[in-house]
Amino acid sequence: MDRWQTIIEPFRIHAVEPIRMTTAAERERSLEAAGWNLFNLHADDVLIDLLTDSGTGAMSRDQWAAVQHGDESYAGSPSWYAFLDAVRNLFPFPHVIPTHQGRAAEKILFSVVGGRGRIVPNNTHFDTTRANVEWSGAEAVDLVIPEGHEPATIHPFKGNMDVAALEALLAERAADVPVVFVTITNNSGGGQPVSLENLRQVRAVCDRYAKPLFLDGCRFAENAWFIKTREQGQADRPIVDIVREIGSLANGMTMSAKKDGLANIGGWLAMDDDALAAQCRNLLILTEGFLTYGGLAGRDLEAIAQGLREVVSEDYLRYRIRSTAYLGDALDDAGVPLVKPIGGHAVYLDARALLPHIAPLEYPGQSLAVELYRAGGIRGCEIGTVMFGRHPDGTESPAAMDLVRLAIPRRTYTQSHIDYVIEVVRDVAARGPDLRGYRIVDEPPALRHFTATFAPIGAHAR
Ligand code: F0G
Repeated sequence: MDRWQTIIEPFRIHAVEPIRMTTAAERERSLEAAGWNLFNLHADDVLIDLLTDSGTGAMSRDQWAAVQHGDESYAGSPSWYAFLDAVRNLFPFPHVIPTHQGRAAEKILFSVVGGRGRIVPNNTHFDTTRANVEWSGAEAVDLVIPEGHEPATIHPFKGNMDVAALEALLAERAADVPVVFVTITNNSGGGQPVSLENLRQVRAVCDRYAKPLFLDGCRFAENAWFIKTREQGQADRPIVDIVREIGSLANGMTMSAKKDGLANIGGWLAMDDDALAAQCRNLLILTEGFLTYGGLAGRDLEAIAQGLREVVSEDYLRYRIRSTAYLGDALDDAGVPLVKPIGGHAVYLDARALLPHIAPLEYPGQSLAVELYRAGGIRGCEIGTVMFGRHPDGTESPAAMDLVRLAIPRRTYTQSHIDYVIEVVRDVAARGPDLRGYRIVDEPPALRHFTATFAPIGAHAR
């Protein structure tokens, strides 16, 4: 590292997309029309879109060039081989099954290994992962270390699996556990990394019970950067080496290339088990496509292959992690409660702490997310009781935390965009006591946060 402290984007801008300022009155009307669900907004009405880092990043010049190499042969396309080589350069799994995105890989895997009476442990299931486990009839359990549930507690690897809890689960129910999952980084728990040491311990427990270990690898490169910068003895290792060691500890992975694939669409399922792979391939053909394209066009496979080469760049990862921390540190300095340390792809505001007067079942995260849009056209995402509060048996209870995630699309916004976000969040936080809760007017049976509609509680809700 040299002595300059200013974070600069390690790229110049090559093509620009306009973004549009709206008036407060327009945003008020948009909110009402959207049933106060930010997923229902027209994206043209959003100024800074921090809803997700998934598929929303900017592709590089070299990725767009790779798109032109896309070969759309139905079977055995050269683009498939480019994709396969890029995945295999990082991960050791002999079977790589392309899918249109991460949840398609989850659906295929859990259709095969899930089912009634089964139980799947994970540090923390992402919402689609949980939904796919539960859809199969199996139970999803989250076994993150206790610090992972405490927003203000500093821990370098807050995404770690509680190894003792995993051991206890396996001691009791090993026969019902088809696979152990570790999500890197732990998205729903605040974008927090998992250490190599923890992965080795989880591996050892899996070995004792002869269970396969799978990674939810969406943000594997960001996790590797945290290992390099936070874990003892890792500072001098190339990122690629760390990624390969992570892969070597697992038997398979699900992946959304919309995150650390630096692509706008894509994913894969990979594994070392031949029989399992054969079953998964049958489902792939049924629902996604032929073995050498999954749900993807040849050009998408090319964009992912190039993205996987770029994402392990240290200049890129240093900028990526530092620029996320820049937003988090500024809000922390301003006294806004948030999940610490700052995660890799997002800053998670602690809405329950900021809005203690709003009961969890009146959705403080929803209230905060709506107000950020109303005030400044910023779209974040509730990760809390709206997302996780409804259970398969129909009951509702508060989620472990009520957070609002400000996810940072990769290579997309500049530091001045982020300075604007800081200004708006500080303003909304100062007005916290004026915010009101919400009730749900209408909700679907699963993944309700995507399509539920809301109404503000109380006449002067704002
Ligand atoms: N696993 C994790 C940890 C994720 O963050 C996501 C997606 C998925 C699986 C599913 O992948 O979207 O390609 O089907 N996360 C996005 C998000 C949607 O906003 O965090 P997908």
